[in-house]
Amino acid sequence: MLKKKQLADSASDDFAADVLASLRADPPSISSKWLYDTQGSALFEQITRVEDYYLTRTEAAIFDEAFPALADMFGPGMAITEFGSGASIKTRRLLTALEPQLYVPIDVAEEFLQDAAEELHALFPKLEIIPLVADLTAPYELPEAFTRKNRRLGFFPGSTIGNFPEEVAVQFLRGARAAMGDKAHLLISADLVKDKDVLERAYDDSEGVTRQFTLNLLTRMNRELSADFDISQFRHVSRFNTEKSRIEIFVESLAAQTVSIAGEAFTFEKGDRIQTEYSYKYTQESFAQLLSQSGWEVEQVWTDPNDWFGVFLASA
Ligand code: AVJ
Repeated sequence: MLKKKQLADSASDDFAADVLASLRADPPSISSKWLYDTQGSALFEQITRVEDYYLTRTEAAIFDEAFPALADMFGPGMAITEFGSGASIKTRRLLTALEPQLYVPIDVAEEFLQDAAEELHALFPKLEIIPLVADLTAPYELPEAFTRKNRRLGFFPGSTIGNFPEEVAVQFLRGARAAMGDKAHLLISADLVKDKDVLERAYDDSEGVTRQFTLNLLTRMNRELSADFDISQFRHVSRFNTEKSRIEIFVESLAAQTVSIAGEAFTFEKGDRIQTEYSYKYTQESFAQLLSQSGWEVEQVWTDPNDWFGVFLASA
């Protein structure tokens, strides 16, 4: 059964207003959530398959071990919510392994969410699916059909939490804790601290897909905000900030230039940067600490043989 999607209040978004405000700030930035238009989402899919981007395949190998263990632990018929649309192969694998009764995918991208839900419905006709449109960093409520279940699991794969600065990560985790209720479980992935070169290469791959992914943001602004970026006059930069334990991604101006965005002029000197993404890297200890300060206690951790990536099961 596929229920009509539900709309949380927090779902409204405005690309123009958000971009202009964050570009006027010092230092200028653009929220990474705007990277994922149709082109950007397709490019990100491509990133997950490049050799240098070890994250996705490493996580998939960990799930091979973790999913059967979770199936034993929880048994069939539980309720699962996913923080993200559920369009990915991981979702299908999780639903196949755990055989839940109810699945609630949560995403801001309304149309994408509905399409993904319809696809899943065709594959899992007996599964009850209730898509929910919401911004995960603002308060939201899960449907009653979810909260009244005894066995409840939240799924946040991909180390997507790495995009959030600490305050936002805590907000998200506390929000999930509040929405999911007492005794809920959370299965959440985090990319782990490792050699700086390995990290920087993962975000500036030799096939150039990550570069295209970042610069697509300029193409999107040209199209949707009547901007006039000359893409050839900017480059993609990825740096690991050891002190802050995060990959920092920027668009860097290759020349002195002025760009008009939604009618407003922005001036760049050569070397000026717009920050577009952070990707935080944790240790097992620092991630357990983040979870515990947000109302979640780690029950089990799965990693790969190199300890490059962690899958954490936590309880409320
Ligand atoms: C989707 C946030 C997990 O940080 O690894 C990948 C995004 N950006 N390459 C990450 C991303 C450039 C990705 N997450």
